[in-house]
Amino acid sequence: MIRLQTPLPDEYGLASEEQLSERVTRAKEQLAGPLVILGHHYQREEVISFADARGDSFGLSRFAAAQRDAEYVVFCGVHFMAESADILTGDGVKVLLPDLNAGCSMADMADLDGVEQIWEELGQVTDVERVVPITYMNSSAALKAFVGRKGGSVCTSSNARSVLRWALGLGDGSSSGRSGTSGTSRAPGDKVLFFPDQHLGRNTGFQLGFAADDMRVVDPRRPLGGLEERDVKEATFLLWQGHCSVHQRFSTSHVESFRAAHPDGIVIVHPECAHEVVELADQVGSTDYIIGAVAEAPPGSVIAVGTEIHLVDRLARAHAADRSVVSLDPLVCPCSTMFRIDLPHLAWVLDGLVAGEVRNRIVVDSATAADARVSLERMLAIA
Ligand code: 13P
Ligand code: SF4
Repeated sequence: MIRLQTPLPDEYGLASEEQLSERVTRAKEQLAGPLVILGHHYQREEVISFADARGDSFGLSRFAAAQRDAEYVVFCGVHFMAESADILTGDGVKVLLPDLNAGCSMADMADLDGVEQIWEELGQVTDVERVVPITYMNSSAALKAFVGRKGGSVCTSSNARSVLRWALGLGDGSSSGRSGTSGTSRAPGDKVLFFPDQHLGRNTGFQLGFAADDMRVVDPRRPLGGLEERDVKEATFLLWQGHCSVHQRFSTSHVESFRAAHPDGIVIVHPECAHEVVELADQVGSTDYIIGAVAEAPPGSVIAVGTEIHLVDRLARAHAADRSVVSLDPLVCPCSTMFRIDLPHLAWVLDGLVAGEVRNRIVVDSATAADARVSLERMLAIA
């Protein structure tokens, strides 16, 4: 998705890291009461060190929802996270994203037109009242709103299991109903349309005891997702053909090479990795889960982590005294959009606030926000 981030004035672009850190520190002091800075675990060190709260996308959405006194939330993460924060915070809270080009290539793999088209086509071959749409947090507000309207829920990598249990009536979900707000009951679905990340959907489906035969991949460029009517009827999981370019790089050969070098080593990966990789790993979970798992590993462990490199490097530094943390892929690839948030952009938005100018505000229109809030709040009620 093309967004337009204006180039920064030279006073930011040409400043040293030290000068920029001083600017951010000064602005934070001046804005102390009304300002909250949130940082996702994939942010670079010099940025996340200024965050008042850091977390995975679920933790940050909960934190944003709890903000009652803040006037400004500066979100050091990517666009869909800032949109969710805007939806979940009150009208008085302005959410800012330091660089408007900090998107998510996976989120861009599903758009409202494409999902509506497939939904309509599914309706010609099956009862869509029994299909529950589930969108990963990594999606636009427009898709979260679609899901809210159709009785589905958002999920994140830390609660996908509970959300899918709820959707398919497998127990252990919640009392949240499918229509309107939570509390109204309606029969669970017998299928889910899961977008945009096929891997999270597939990995969670396997965790819940389903088999490959219960799953079909929906190719949004082809009529009926490239499926036959029979496929749609047989499948429990209709998985949108999207992926994360960072996590898709981890392969089974990475796990095999690591195990050959470290037979007692531990492999921990994010559920956006392909299923073959997840199957070979010792543990799988969200970024928050990974942080906890590394901390709980026995001292002396050698741990290969399959997720974004900034988090892996931070864990390596934090545990350098008694364990070794390495990237599962020696030729690492950072998340280039998370990486767009840097000190010059952070200093620039904060200086704007000090001067009374709100830069890069993320606003979700009220109709979209109302529907998206339904699917986000449903998730918060389930998880
Ligand atoms: P978490 O929900 O684990 O923070 O992951 C978000 C993300 O974008 C992973 O690529
Ligand atoms: Fe999107 Fe992947 Fe980056 Fe996460 S790591 S923000 S899913 S591109």
